[in-house]
Amino acid sequence: MPALCAEAVSAGYGRSPIITGISLTAELGTVTTIIGPNGAGKSTFIKSLVGILRPMSGRVIVNDVDITHLAGHRIPGHGMVYVPQNDNVFKRLTVRENLEVGGFASRADPRSRMEEVLGIFTDLAKAVDKKAGFLSGGQQNLLAIARALMVDPAVILLDEPTAGLSPAYTDVVWNQIERISHLNTAAVVVEQNVERALKHSDHVHIFVAGRNHVNGTADEIASLDLPSIFLGRS
Ligand SMILES: Nc1ncnc2c1ncn2[C@@H]1O[C@H](COP(=O)(O)OP(=O)(O)OP(=O)(O)O)[C@@H](O)[C@H]1O
Ligand SMILES: [Mg+2]
Repeated sequence: MPALCAEAVSAGYGRSPIITGISLTAELGTVTTIIGPNGAGKSTFIKSLVGILRPMSGRVIVNDVDITHLAGHRIPGHGMVYVPQNDNVFKRLTVRENLEVGGFASRADPRSRMEEVLGIFTDLAKAVDKKAGFLSGGQQNLLAIARALMVDPAVILLDEPTAGLSPAYTDVVWNQIERISHLNTAAVVVEQNVERALKHSDHVHIFVAGRNHVNGTADEIASLDLPSIFLGRS
């Protein structure tokens, strides 16, 4: 059983759906990346998984439990967390306090979990008493990921975690995402850059105009005519 099973999810902001019939599964220990043109519905899909948008139809299963109709705040307790693109840390709180907030929904001992998480993010460990607002943009993104990991989730959803970062820091963030997946987590990532998606992922989905146009292993997707797909020509 995959950690995450989204089955034929449709969702939108008004009466008509923006995304239609999207299915995606993610296994523990893997990275699944969603790419596609602007406005394809990547963020909308992620929001429909975590209770920000209510699916109009379809089902969302995490660890064999149907969470489709759960309130958003209850979903981390079922093993799935979401890191939004912007405003993802409490800037006036310290690194440590941000992690404590993240551990609130945790069933594990928050203090030992914080040690584990800071063991992954060693740069943050050196800055635990610093206010998050004084960290660089890249470090803030890492803190947002670290905070989400405080509940020791099965599934972590990341919407463009490297947007606006320097190429060097983008590599740092992607390497951490791979590392987290290897610690037996299913990572589902929205990424603008096709090359990076293919480099760091096990599976890739291409969304076009609110639908899952195609998905496969990174090698399978790399062999397709991606420019034509992105332009809606094939
Ligand atoms: N809050 C909203 N209310 C109404 N429509 C919205 C809202 N957010 C997004 N949309 C529309 O839904 C469609 C899909 O947007 P979405 O943000 O999911 O795309 P995306 O694939 O994440 O794009 P990007 O690559 O630019 O982040 C777009 O047409 C967008 O205008
Ligand atoms: Mg988006």
